Amino acid sequence: MTAADEPLVLGIETSCDETGVGIVRGHTLLADAIASSVEEHARFGGVVPEVASRAHLEAMVPTVQRACETAGVALHDVDAIAVTAGPGLAGALLVGVASAKALALSLGKPLYGVNHLAAHVAVDQLEHGALPDPCLALLVSGGHSSLLRVDDVTERVTPLGATIDDAAGEAFDKVARLLGLPFPGGPHIDRAAREGSIEIDFPRGLTSRRDLERHRFDFSFSGLKTAVARWVEAREAAGEPVPVADVAASFQEAVCDVLTRKAIDAAAAEGIEDILIGGGVAANSRLRALAEERAGKNGIRVRVPRPGLCTDNGAMVAALGAEMVARGRTPSALDLPADSSMSVESVLV
Ligand code: KG4
Ligand code: ZN
Repeated sequence: MTAADEPLVLGIETSCDETGVGIVRGHTLLADAIASSVEEHARFGGVVPEVASRAHLEAMVPTVQRACETAGVALHDVDAIAVTAGPGLAGALLVGVASAKALALSLGKPLYGVNHLAAHVAVDQLEHGALPDPCLALLVSGGHSSLLRVDDVTERVTPLGATIDDAAGEAFDKVARLLGLPFPGGPHIDRAAREGSIEIDFPRGLTSRRDLERHRFDFSFSGLKTAVARWVEAREAAGEPVPVADVAASFQEAVCDVLTRKAIDAAAAEGIEDILIGGGVAANSRLRALAEERAGKNGIRVRVPRPGLCTDNGAMVAALGAEMVARGRTPSALDLPADSSMSVESVLV
């Protein structure tokens, strides 16, 4: 297949607070336009679903136009439309799905309603080429923390473990709030941690021998978040200043320690030599460094897309759509639903 034969796909992402429209040709990224409503949510300390839905509605048409301009393509050149069908915020997903249906119908092009988590995996093809089959994906974002075995990103994704309470990104956001850092907290903790030292021994959730029997590949971050809150409260009660950088560094280390340990353990248990890290938290500098270091010692390779492709975007949806076309998967029906709790095993609606 020459580059010109590869499918030109437009992907739409609206599962949370980013309106993303990406255009790819096969594994080549042509445009990744994003409009974010994150600032509108900042004062609430979390994403407000109704505000996100309205922002998607307002941003959709200009973002599609911007993507086409950047890619230098007209809408009728596109071979297929892909859209995040779930999981995510119901109202937010609906805006993307309705827009994708309108485009597919008016252009007479096939529509692929895809899983957001699989799209976080597929996006790496835009940066590092074809995915190794199988690979072990560690997906960590504001909404999910999962370990997945990926045999074929278009149809065979098997969950090995997931968080039993908060997602990793959610823990970053809550701890940041506790430390008086802005929302979303992940990048701020990452930055603050560089000035701090890992002095406080915060708990590593689900790593005791007993927990490992039932939850070997699962995560828990709610106890860690509470431990940080108690530690900060004790400092404040004693009238002592809170060493923000040290708390940030120690908290971040606890999260990254567990994530990398379990990912490597899962890869070893499955006999897989490639780990792919995706989702917003994959932008974390300590997670990237620790994963490289530990995987290297275990003869495992690590792939992490650049930070801009780790957080939610339209290119990841387009990348998965292009793979659907390339592998000849049957397109979705035009009445496909938005499914806020879409299971990770269902990659294509
Ligand atoms: O994938 P994403 O953009 O949206 C969801 O699907 O949730 O992930 C957003 C999450 C937020 O919780 C944010 O705090 C976190 O990713 N995040 C980070 C970093 N950059 C973003 N967490 C830790 N370190 C970072 N550098
Ligand atoms: Zn995401």
